[in-house]
Amino acid sequence: MKKDSENMEIGFIGLGKMGKNMVLRLLKNNHRVAVWNRSSGPMEEVASKGAITSTSIENILEQLENTPKIVWIMLPAGEITENMINKVTPHLSNGDILIDGGNANFHDSIRRNKELEKKGISFMDIGVSGGLIGATKGYCMMIGGDKKTYEYLKPLLESLCINEGFAYMGQSGSGHYVKMVHNAIEYGVMQAIAEGFELLAEGRFNDLDLKNIAHVWNHGSIISSFLMQMAEQAFDKDSTLKHIEPCCVKDSGEGHWAALEAMEYSVPFTVNTYALHARYASRDENSMAYRTLNALRNEFGGHPIKTK
Ligand SMILES: NC(=O)c1ccc[n+]([C@@H]2O[C@H](COP(=O)([O-])OP(=O)(O)OC[C@H]3O[C@@H](n4cnc5c(N)ncnc54)[C@H](OP(=O)(O)O)[C@@H]3O)[C@@H](O)[C@H]2O)c1
Repeated sequence: MKKDSENMEIGFIGLGKMGKNMVLRLLKNNHRVAVWNRSSGPMEEVASKGAITSTSIENILEQLENTPKIVWIMLPAGEITENMINKVTPHLSNGDILIDGGNANFHDSIRRNKELEKKGISFMDIGVSGGLIGATKGYCMMIGGDKKTYEYLKPLLESLCINEGFAYMGQSGSGHYVKMVHNAIEYGVMQAIAEGFELLAEGRFNDLDLKNIAHVWNHGSIISSFLMQMAEQAFDKDSTLKHIEPCCVKDSGEGHWAALEAMEYSVPFTVNTYALHARYASRDENSMAYRTLNALRNEFGGHPIKTK
C-alpha cells in the first residue's frame, strides 16, 4: 500500500461523545472526513467544521474517493457494532480497511477479522482511551491487526493521539484485549479512590474538604493522576456529591471479560475483580445477600435487624 500525502481520507460512523470529538481532531489536522450518524445533530455540528455528511451507509462509502477506503466505526459494542459491520462490509473491496474503535470484546474482533480477511478487508481493532479530555489533549490508542495497515494508518493516528500515545499491540484482537485490561485496571483504581474518599467523609475528622484534598494530591503526590483530577473536578461541582444517587454503577463489559480471562489463565485478579463486584453490588437495591446476612446474624446471635 502506498499513500501520496500525510492528509488522508476516512469515513467515520458514530458521532457520540467519542466519535464527534475524534472527527473534529481529524478535521483540524486537514484530513478529509465523511461522516454518518444515526441522528443528524452531531453530523451538522461536524459539517460546520468541514466534514462531509452522508444520508446512508451506502452514501458515506460512495463519498470516499481514495483507495483503499478507510472506515472507522465508533459505536456501542455488541449487536450495534455487529449490525453496522454487516451493513458496511458489502460496500468494501479487497484492500480496504475497517476499524472498530469501540470497546468490543476481543473474541468478537478476532472472529470479525477472520471473516473479513476472506474478503481481503483489513480489520483493525483499536482500543481508545482518553474520555472527554481526549478531545483537546489527544487520545491514547492500542492497535491490533495487520502491521502494514497500522503503518499505513499512522498519519490518522498521529492526528488523533497525544504524542507517543499510540502503539501497535500485535495480531488481531490484541488492541481490544489490551484495552480490556486497561479498563479493568481503571475499575480498580476508581474503586480505591472512591473508598478512600468515603473514609475521609465518614471517618473521625468530619470537616475535611474533599476537593482541597484531591487538589493537593494532584500536586506532587504519588497518587496524582487523571482520575484524581476527575475527583477534584467532581468535588468542585458539588463538595459532598449529594446530588448523585449512590447506586447502580454501570460497567460496559471489559472488567467482566478481564475477570473471566484471569480465571481462565489462573491469574490473580483480586483488586480489579473486587471492583467489578462492588459495581454489581451497587445495583441491587433489594439485595438478597444483605437480607440473608442480616437474617443470619439475627438467627445465630439474636442481633437486632431492621424490618420492613
Ligand atoms: N465515553 C468514553 O469515555 C469511551 C472511551 C473509550 C471508548 N469508548 C467506546 O467508544 C464507543 C462509543 O462510545 P461513546 O461514549 O461515544 O458513546 P455515546 O456517546 O453513547 O454514542 C453512541 C453513538 O452510537 C450511536 N448509536 C447508538 N445506538 C445506535 C444504533 N442502534 N444504530 C446506530 N447508531 C447507534 C449514537 O447515535 P445517536 O447520536 O443517534 O444517538 C452515537 O453516535 C463505545 O464502544 C464505547 O464503549 C467510550
